[in-house]
Amino acid sequence: KMIYFVTPTYPRPEQVPELTRLSHTLMHVPRIHWIIADDQPVCSPHVLNILKKSSLPYTHISSPKPYQYKLSRNFPRGVANRRAALSWLRENVREGILYFGDDDNTVDLQLFDEIRVTKKVSMFPVGLIGGYGVSSPVVKDGKVVGFFDSWPGSRTYPVDMAGFAVNIEFLNADASMPYIAGHEEDRFLVSLGLQIDDIEPLASNCSRVLVWHTKTAKYKRPSLKLDLEKVDQDKYQSFV
Ligand code: UGA
Ligand code: MN
Repeated sequence: KMIYFVTPTYPRPEQVPELTRLSHTLMHVPRIHWIIADDQPVCSPHVLNILKKSSLPYTHISSPKPYQYKLSRNFPRGVANRRAALSWLRENVREGILYFGDDDNTVDLQLFDEIRVTKKVSMFPVGLIGGYGVSSPVVKDGKVVGFFDSWPGSRTYPVDMAGFAVNIEFLNADASMPYIAGHEEDRFLVSLGLQIDDIEPLASNCSRVLVWHTKTAKYKRPSLKLDLEKVDQDKYQSFV
């Protein structure tokens, strides 16, 4: 089966390095189709360039966040663009596996082998996240019986976007992602009609971490104040 790896992304100084690094991971994965969904009005030529260099099969679409979310700090990230990717999948793909991979996550290649056999929805731990350092389903006798996550937040499935994969045949017409920060994953999984018994635990019954919620520090340019007192006057004179 083909894996459809959906990456929402948005323009910033870290975007090209993040996607370059991610492309180098995906280039090791057989039968993968990369859907990059740009959070801006038109597809970025810098992003397209990375896709082309990777030689991976890809789809490049764009769908910017609604204007109202540009003004708030705690807004739902990557929703309009993930929704666009979901519509593209519904219209163009009958079978395969859907996995949401943010542009800044780190994935062990082993995870791709494991999610490829997802029947409905598979789940697995995500490292470097939240107050506990890991978010994971709790597994007993090979079945998911609960969730270990530092922010339950009255969610049925308190998991991260990188903590599950979905068989595309299980994506129904009602599958949707809401514009509610912190509830995107849960509401999406509930909209699939998922039951806890349907969940297939991966990564050795969720005892191993094969994906990390890594974050790149934001680059901040040091302020370029020319301190005239410290400037070597001779050099300064020859310069001007
Ligand atoms: C966490 C989860 O990992 C996300 O999957 C989830 O969407 C997000 O929380 C949320 O609940 O809002 P986090 O690391 O906190 O993500 O946020 P980012 O990595 O900044 O953003 C998640 C994804 O959305 C990234 O791929 C990012 O490129 C994209 N994004 C972010 C946009 O497309 N537009 C934005 O304005 C910001
Ligand atoms: Mn992130």
